[in-house]
Amino acid sequence: MQDFIFQMPRKTEIGFFKSRDIAKIIKEIEIQRVLVVIDYNLKKIGIVDQMFNNLKKENISFTVFDNIKNEPTIAEIDQAIHDLKVASNFDEVVGIGGGSTIDVAKLLAVSGSIKGSIRDYIGINLIKESSLPTIMVPTTSGTGAEVTPNAVVKDPVEGWKKGIVSSFLIPDRVILDPELTMSLPPKITAETGLDAFTHAIECFICKKSNTMSDLFALSAMRLINTNLHQAVKEGGNKEARYNMLLASFYGGIAITNSGTGGVHALAYPLGGKYNISHGLSNSILLTEVMRFNAGAVPEKFVKIAKAMGIETINLSQEKAVRAALDVISKLVDDVGIRVENFEVSEQIIDVLAKSAMFEERLLKNNPRPIKYEDARIIYRKSLVMK
Ligand SMILES: [Fe+2]
Repeated sequence: MQDFIFQMPRKTEIGFFKSRDIAKIIKEIEIQRVLVVIDYNLKKIGIVDQMFNNLKKENISFTVFDNIKNEPTIAEIDQAIHDLKVASNFDEVVGIGGGSTIDVAKLLAVSGSIKGSIRDYIGINLIKESSLPTIMVPTTSGTGAEVTPNAVVKDPVEGWKKGIVSSFLIPDRVILDPELTMSLPPKITAETGLDAFTHAIECFICKKSNTMSDLFALSAMRLINTNLHQAVKEGGNKEARYNMLLASFYGGIAITNSGTGGVHALAYPLGGKYNISHGLSNSILLTEVMRFNAGAVPEKFVKIAKAMGIETINLSQEKAVRAALDVISKLVDDVGIRVENFEVSEQIIDVLAKSAMFEERLLKNNPRPIKYEDARIIYRKSLVMK
């Protein structure tokens, strides 16, 4: 009998080579001028050429914006908004790439309602107007950015990443084409895949979880547990790539309707300090944060164990929880995540724990309160001490 709101994109298409149909999908609505926001590195991939050729063949007028760095800064996005004048020059925004590219595309699509700098819109629901129509085409299986109402921007002044959250950032249409993920190297596949797993498990155990977000979160965990290892070890496995892209999308739906918690809160300072990927930061902390949380919501960890393929019927709650934690730890180890390279001192642990305390939005959603001392213990257990 829980009250909740459920949101997701208007239309999603999934299938190998679906992205080649992008011209047809664009033409479903009356569009004259399209802004295509794309990851610079993707332009080298033949399949993107095919997308562009299809647009030309269908006489769709489009402009390509590919000046996006990984983790763009507030100033870079402000500059793009100023240069492109999206609201007056375009009718639709298409984003093709990883999480950063899609986040920029989402922000450009709402830029008509942004006065001044996007810095003033950091926070929740400060963007209050509809965007231009959007189509998002993810090329990694991890962030779920193609679904979420979030855009992450880097603030070089304060040194860490911040979130702009608004329902108006949720894309309209999504194309999930696993072919675009086939050439991802094992390291990126592993780290992004564990980011997706972190979304699923955090959304499932967190305070804002609800019966609908749980459906997607549990399915994502099941899919990732059975496909991530194969996608990492055998990148050409089409079924594993398909299932990982779907799982990432499910994880994104879970974020949109629930939210992440302690792993993400502690991962942001870690990623900033060591300049490591978001997925890797989460992976390093995942097991210890889950050990910390398990006692607060043991019944949920029994359900996680079931989703991860453990036969729980003859197990006590305690044993089922332990089995779930073991499978999570194995999932991280099996895809080669190691922390030997991140030796830290007590002084660094102190800085990380203090920074994590600023992530109030995420900490508030964690099933068990994480205080400064708790954060120190989790970092200490997750990292190799000098
Ligand atoms: Fe994430």
